[in-house]
This record gives sequence, C-alpha cells and structure tokens, in this order.
Amino acid sequence: MSTDTQAQQDLQERLKQYTSYESTPDEALSLFQEARAAGCPVAHSEKLGGYHLFLDYDDVRRAHADHETFASSPSVLRPLVERPQFPPIEYDPPEQTQWRTLFAHALNLDTPKRIESEVRKDVITLIEGLQAKRNFDLVDDFAEEVPLFALCEVLGFDREKRGEIRRLTVDMHAYAEDPVKGPAAFMAFAEFGIAEVMSRLEDPRDDYLTYLSTATIDGRPLTPQELGATMNSLLNAGHGTTVSGLTSLLYEVYSRPELKQRLIDDPSLIPAAVEESMRLHTPFFGLYRRATKDVTVGGVEIAEGDSIQMCWAAANRDPKSFENPDEFDLDRMPGRKRLMTFGFGIHACMGQPTARMEMHVALEELLARVPDIELDDPASVRHEFAGSETALITRLPARLPAR
Ligand code: HEM
Repeated sequence: MSTDTQAQQDLQERLKQYTSYESTPDEALSLFQEARAAGCPVAHSEKLGGYHLFLDYDDVRRAHADHETFASSPSVLRPLVERPQFPPIEYDPPEQTQWRTLFAHALNLDTPKRIESEVRKDVITLIEGLQAKRNFDLVDDFAEEVPLFALCEVLGFDREKRGEIRRLTVDMHAYAEDPVKGPAAFMAFAEFGIAEVMSRLEDPRDDYLTYLSTATIDGRPLTPQELGATMNSLLNAGHGTTVSGLTSLLYEVYSRPELKQRLIDDPSLIPAAVEESMRLHTPFFGLYRRATKDVTVGGVEIAEGDSIQMCWAAANRDPKSFENPDEFDLDRMPGRKRLMTFGFGIHACMGQPTARMEMHVALEELLARVPDIELDDPASVRHEFAGSETALITRLPARLPAR
C-alpha cells in the first residue's frame, strides 16, 4: 500500500472515531483541517449513532438555507435521548416560527439598547471586585457573571435572585453529563423559572416573565413543561456560549500587548476584536441536523434520516473563505464573509446583538479601568469541550500588579 493511501486510511479511521466528547478543540480543529486538505469537506464519524460533519463554509451556509432538507427536530444534540424539545432551536416550521415569535418579545434588536446601562453598571461593580482582590480568575470572577446578569435583565429576574440563579446554573453545567444529577439540576432550574412566571400572574410587572405568564401557543397558554423548556432554552443558549466568547476575547486581548494597545488607543476597534475572537474561538463547535431526504453534499451521499453536524468552528476556519484562518487578524473586517458563529437562516441566534453588546461593554470597561491585568500563565491556556459541543477556557487566573 502506498504511503498516501495509508495516510488516507489513517485519516478516515480518525474521523470515524471523532466526537467532541473524546477530543479537545485543538485536536478537532487540526483533524478538520487535515480532512479538508485531503479533499474531504464532508467527513463521517461512527460515534454518537453516526453522523456526517459539514466542514466547508459554503456547504454549512447552503445547508442552513435549506431547513426543509436539514431539519432541527427532534434534537440538535447527539446522541438522541428522550427529553422535551428545546424551543425554538429544536423545532421546524411552522412550530419554530410560533416559538421564535414568542422569544422575540425578549430577544430583539432593541434588547441591547434596553439593558446596556444596567449591564455596564454590573460590569463596573465586577471590575471593582477584581481591583479589591488583586488575584482572581477571569472566568469565575468575571466572565461567568456578565451573561448571567444580562439574562436576568432580559427576562426580569430580581437582583436578589441572582445568587440562586447562579447556583442553579453552576449545578446544571457541573452535572450536564451525570445521568441522575443532570436531569435533577435541569428540573430544579425549570421549576424555579416556572414559579417566577406564575408569581407574575398575581403581581404583573413590565417584564418578559409577565409576558410569558399569559403568552399563548396555538391559542392556548403554555404548559408548565413548555415554560420549563423555555427557561432552560434561554439559559442554555445564552449563558455558557457567552461565557466562552467573553473568556476567549479576554485571553486574546490580555495575552497580546500590541493588540491591547491598539484597542486602548482606538476603542472603535473593539467590535472588530469581538468579531475576530468569535471567529477564531467559536463557542458552539456545531449542532446537529436530520436529513429529511436523500441528498448529495461535497460529493458524499447522505441518506434520509442521517445525522449531520453543522460544524461552525470548521466553517469559520475554512481557508477558502478566510485567509490565514488560524491567525487573529484585527484588520480582517472589511469585505470579509459573515461569521458562522451564530448560525444562519431561520435558526440564526436570537441573542447575537445582546451577546456582542455584553462583550463590547465588558472589554471597553476593562481596558479603561484595568488595562494592566496580567494573565498568570497565558502559554498554558487551552480550550476544552464542556458537553453539548461547547468549547471554552475553564480557568483564566490573572492578577493586578502591586501599585
Ligand atoms: C457568544 C454567544 C452566543 C453564541 C456563540 C450563540 C450561538 C448560537 C447558534 C450557533 C445558534 C443556532 C443554532 C442552530 O442553528 O441550531 C443559536 C441559536 C439561538 N440562540 Fe444563541 N448564541 C449566543 C448567545 C445567545 C444569547 C445571549 C441568547 C439569549 C439570551 C441566545 C439565544 C438563542 C436562541 C433563542 C436561539 C434559537 C433560535 C432558533 O432556533 O430560532 N444566544 N445561538
């Protein structure tokens, strides 16, 4: 057998064994790059019940545009397990359209403007906490908190409830893979959310929880199970992803003195830094679809019922779409393709303007108030997979130098 054929077989074997549950983001990205370079834009893994991986930017985008062929129901996660569907992400039209309309009361283009000043206040309080501590973890003491505060503002939870929400969120993440504690943690948050919504029936306010208390789907009120799924959907879609995006951004900026100085000298470049960091470090590596008919993509035949992963992390590093894709390039913006980080088409992320605002405000205030933060050991920082295809930095220890 020639060396080339042997190398091809080795590669196919490694792709067959690929799952984020047994890999690291760095290993996954290098495997995707190898596959693409070997002329394999659609790979196949035998794990998690078997699935095709769409790696090329154009294939991912086209598949998003064809939601009738690539369906999101019954689940965008693999392996498939018995549980209620998350709205709107795990529904197809017409149900998805109704759910999306219901979510749009909380998540729309005005949301960032509505909550920005409260988010900024929270960010400043968190920075004061860092200044008092001098040694801290930028994940635990900062990045985990900002999106949680923002979600409370979006939905209408009282400030005093934040400690409890934080505890429920931490449990949900910590036990995500635990077959007993996982569903229990999941239910605990759902029950908390349902009780909050129900309390608004007695004590209506001008917030989304009140809207949910009388909202309808198909002309009937939401069932408790649907309310719980709505709460969990918002938390799952909006928290871990934004923590991941914000931590990666802080890591990039505070480990690159020249980049940091450019942003301090010209804060109007902060949105470009957010975009480039989100391209390079895609928080959701990819979620899944189900083929509703036989179809051929990238020369590969896909059968009706097959699972597909829309690999956004691979699409964001497709060299045909982004020159020198592994480099952080602040000047990439003009004329570049849109990121796949937030998906595309009918399921495109509803929280993206809010997530971008949170990252923008957080970085702006940090650079204005604590530009001298030093990371303890930037060379050892690695992204990890943390269930549900989310990639993130779990710890980012840092300090403020003695005054
Ligand atoms: C950096 C942060 C974020 C990232 C990377 C992200 C990523 C994504 C992606 C890739 C999708 C598409 C899923 C698919 O096509 O299957 C999505 C959908 C969604 N996201 Fe986000 N998201 C972020 C923040 C947020 C926030 C802050 C919220 C809410 C507060 C949110 C709410 C949603 C919702 C409701 C959907 C479902 C939309 C639908 O299915 O119609 N996301 N997100």
